[in-house]
Amino acid sequence: MQSYTLSGGVQIPVMGYGCYNAFGAEIEQAVEMALEAGYRYIDTAEFYKNEPDIGPALDTFAGKREELFVLSKAWPSSFDNMEEACVRSAKNLHVEYLDAYLLHWPGTKEDRRLKAYGQLLALAEKGLVRAPGVSNFSIEQLERVKAEYGAYPAIHEIECHPSYHPVEMIRFCQKHGIQVISYEPINRTADLSLAPVLQLAEKYEHTPAQIVLRWHIQHDQLPIPKSSNESRIKENIAVFDFELSKEDMALLDTLDTGKRNGLDPMAFPPGF
Ligand SMILES: NC(=O)c1ccc[n+]([C@@H]2O[C@H](COP(=O)([O-])OP(=O)(O)OC[C@H]3O[C@@H](n4cnc5c(N)ncnc54)[C@H](OP(=O)(O)O)[C@@H]3O)[C@@H](O)[C@H]2O)c1
Repeated sequence: MQSYTLSGGVQIPVMGYGCYNAFGAEIEQAVEMALEAGYRYIDTAEFYKNEPDIGPALDTFAGKREELFVLSKAWPSSFDNMEEACVRSAKNLHVEYLDAYLLHWPGTKEDRRLKAYGQLLALAEKGLVRAPGVSNFSIEQLERVKAEYGAYPAIHEIECHPSYHPVEMIRFCQKHGIQVISYEPINRTADLSLAPVLQLAEKYEHTPAQIVLRWHIQHDQLPIPKSSNESRIKENIAVFDFELSKEDMALLDTLDTGKRNGLDPMAFPPGF
């Protein structure tokens, strides 16, 4: 699989495997199937409560550690002690370092968020983290990071799918060398039944999920679909044998409703 070069020089595959909402043997087997199918970037978070299940699956990988990209995230409850949280995640994932570590949500307290980001940079200095990133930030919050520390995060993971396409944020990230990662890339299946997606699936002789994932890839919005099902895991990565035309990309761009699934990142999670 091809990769992008993050600011700082680390390579990240152009597609990843998402691990949210699957636990125990289900996620352990699914990650093994994903590695077998060719995924090299595994996306999880301490909040998903499945890092201890993913660690044994990563142990089965026959290739070199450098071929994997393991990403985890710190919940705002860990912002006062990022090193402890990072070491805990790495230990549970059976890795010596994380390829990327993100602030999972901005939290409502700017001072605490910026201090947590400073700790994240210190973890990168120590070699525990290769690429520092954030998730669910606003443009203003990204700019505050830059103002305080002189550089933008390498990664911004955000909700993004045809029916929620935050173009202003994506343009901002792409202009400043911040890699966008699209979470809920198929809108938890809701976008697979939209008429233009079905129409293009027929035209390109690929599945609706493949059409949507291909749209992300052609926009350089790295998608991380989750599936626990072997055939859908394989289906989702089989998107490198066709290309959507400019007109069909534009058609999918018309599906944006401006409405996200997730809660308002400026208020969620409450209490932080
Ligand atoms: N940073 C954040 O705040 C944040 C928030 C949400 C998610 N994420 C990350 O983003 C990843 C992806 O998001 P998500 O898991 O919420 O949603 P998603 O990937 O858009 O959708 C997952 C759902 O789609 C189904 N599915 C997968 N492939 C399919 C296919 N080809 N055809 C039909 N159905 C298919 C899966 O069911 P089966 O398993 O049965 O196939 C599952 O129910 C997460 O796993 C997580 O790593 C990050």
